Amino acid sequence: MAKTRQKSWQARFSQSAHALTESFVESLSFDHRLWPYDMAGSVAHAEMLAEVGLISKADAKAIRKGLEAIEVDIRAGRFRWDPSQEDIHMAIEAALTKRIGEPGQRLHTARSRNDQVALDLRLYTRDAIDLDVLPLLVDLQRALVASAERYQAAVMPSYTHLQRAQPITAGAYLLAYVEQFERDRERFADARRRMNFCPLGSGALAGTTLPIDRQAVARKLGFDGVCRNSIDATSDRDFITEFLAAAAMCAGHLSRLAEDWILYASQEFAFVSIADAFCTGSSMMPQKKNPDVLELVRGKVGRVYAALTGMLTLTKGLPQAYNRDLQEDKVFLFSAHDTLSACLRIMAEVVRHTAFNVDRLCEATCRGFLDATVLAEYLVGKGVPFRLAHQYVGRLVAGAEKQNRELADLPLDEFRVVCDRIGPDVYGYLGSANVVKRYRSEGSAGPASVARQIRFWKKRTAG
Ligand code: ARG
Repeated sequence: MAKTRQKSWQARFSQSAHALTESFVESLSFDHRLWPYDMAGSVAHAEMLAEVGLISKADAKAIRKGLEAIEVDIRAGRFRWDPSQEDIHMAIEAALTKRIGEPGQRLHTARSRNDQVALDLRLYTRDAIDLDVLPLLVDLQRALVASAERYQAAVMPSYTHLQRAQPITAGAYLLAYVEQFERDRERFADARRRMNFCPLGSGALAGTTLPIDRQAVARKLGFDGVCRNSIDATSDRDFITEFLAAAAMCAGHLSRLAEDWILYASQEFAFVSIADAFCTGSSMMPQKKNPDVLELVRGKVGRVYAALTGMLTLTKGLPQAYNRDLQEDKVFLFSAHDTLSACLRIMAEVVRHTAFNVDRLCEATCRGFLDATVLAEYLVGKGVPFRLAHQYVGRLVAGAEKQNRELADLPLDEFRVVCDRIGPDVYGYLGSANVVKRYRSEGSAGPASVARQIRFWKKRTAG
């Protein structure tokens, strides 16, 4: 059997771990990125241990100084990550003890890696939300709002079932995405509120007989309080699943936006033009300019969904409390976080570098009877019951279609054959430009409502 180095838990074992076991159970290769959180937790824990008299003030100081020196080494790229250490917690503690001696051996008093890793993960996820995902979401919203302002009055077709529906302004279309990303922001903020409780001091699962002060540790680390139940605290990963669920929905929104613009950038639509810097060419077809960035945003969403289903699968059959399965949670958390972060970052730039082809948008609203609904509403204004108005307009559309004309091209007497309530003022209702100006319901897709919405979003996304 291949011999390996002694572990901190080796004392009760008569054999050292097989080399295969060692590499199979290690997590240092992927959890090393938790180091800032592991250290912050250790500093707070050591300070508390000194405050309650479980270690001396001098020991706590030596621990803090030692960890600071290790931090300097890590940041400078000088730290040697010892591959024989099982995980980030062992690696840091071993390096600390090597550096400062006995005080390092006191650090793990009243602590288990089970509450330690639960703490590191909560701190990591909280930072991922506060310092990365939320700022990136706001930045993307700002890019969309700026574009909505630029194109607030540009008339374009809307689609339901991918069939031309009613005329809208491009501003309204863009702000619809801002709403989706706002709900994402709320979901992340909500997940953060629930995760912001400190699991440290729960030990392996049952707590400790030592007189620790959990509240003090929680305060030092910026938590709103402590996890109430030590068994739950060490085995709960709901906060990761919630983060991944919010990430999955957010990624889905990015995918929808990407899909829209992939379509809109096609020659068939030609609604938008994405800057060359965010497209790539073909190795064979010289004329090609492909929206690869957007296709990859759409594609990478798969990783985020995979992370969520992976995490749900990982946790669904676990007996209470901590099980080593949970070590895999980081794979899903990091993968989804990295992917979402990269997608959000590039999407904001794509939005800033995408121009709407205003003439082409307008042209696309000229055909397809996008003003039919407003004609029915015109008839409602003349006292015609809506169901009847719908039928009249249906008849008018069928007639115009046969003649290959639009509703605005029909002479008044042709309108009056179908419904004699129609007067010459009808022409002020037909054509997309007239239609969008007439939208008056709150939140509608016309220029006045869009101007109001833009004012709201500018305030809401102001930094
Ligand atoms: N590397 C482990 C994880 O990420 C740390 C906790 C291990 N605890 C234990 N008792 N083996 O879950």
